[in-house]
Amino acid sequence: MFMLQKGSVTVGGVNLENHLILAAGVLGTTGASLARMLRLGAGGVVTKSIGPQPKSGHAGPCLIPLEGGLLNAMGLPNPSRDFVNEVTPLKDRPVIVSIFGGMPEEFREVASWFEGIAAGYELNLSCPHAEGYGASIGSDPGVVRACTEEVAAFGLPTWVKLTPNVTDIGVIGRAAEEGGATAIVAVNTVRAMRISINLRRPVLGNRFGGLSGKMIFPIALRCVYDLYDACSIPIIGCGGISSAEDVIEMMMAGASAVQIGSAVCDDIGIFERIGEALYADDGSPAGEIVGCAHA
Ligand code: SIN
Repeated sequence: MFMLQKGSVTVGGVNLENHLILAAGVLGTTGASLARMLRLGAGGVVTKSIGPQPKSGHAGPCLIPLEGGLLNAMGLPNPSRDFVNEVTPLKDRPVIVSIFGGMPEEFREVASWFEGIAAGYELNLSCPHAEGYGASIGSDPGVVRACTEEVAAFGLPTWVKLTPNVTDIGVIGRAAEEGGATAIVAVNTVRAMRISINLRRPVLGNRFGGLSGKMIFPIALRCVYDLYDACSIPIIGCGGISSAEDVIEMMMAGASAVQIGSAVCDDIGIFERIGEALYADDGSPAGEIVGCAHA
């Protein structure tokens, strides 16, 4: 297999210790758990999404393990501004703060709390089960552009995480790029549901939620491939990655780095495990393969 050169990399303006980033929502609710994932080999970490007001999230059940995936409807629970205390000790580390809001001004307000602390921002315009937030506004290119402009104005790296639940993800990627995004993260979870045949009711408290894990890898890969053709800023692949081979495949589709989320729930040591199979002292620069499947 193609092996990558060891060492730090810069992706979308953020200096990372390697190409493997902890995705938003998994072990990202405290400074201690974020620091632990960096110790365990993550090249960078993204926090749980933080919004303009504290939120307790959807009624349970909120998380269902499936064969080859996870179905969640957490409902964006977060402590809002109090989260600043968690990430302040990690200033100068590769910590990207995920933020959400219902309108551009709310994105700006939340971003302002983390100025001088975060290594960059990731805009959650993609949660598929939060009315008024996430994908419900992130499917409109005009809103994506406006939210991105507000946050990019701080001059820090600004990543925008997109939903796969749209007809043409390239249109949304271009809107983020026009708004000043420094990278696109593709993708958030796929809107989905299960029904209990005994209870005759949807299993999730919120009825529907977002599907992640191995089952969505081909969808995420196709989105990265489409975005590579549509946009010129770096793309960070996210969705079902659990092996070094998956990382290489994502890079061949066009990803400059990847995020790993659901696979961490099965293996807390996944960053080290993938890193051992992916990197070699005499490995090659990622640039040799990023987007090569488009030739
Ligand atoms: C959640 O907290 O509801 C999940 C976040 C997301 O899907 O973006």
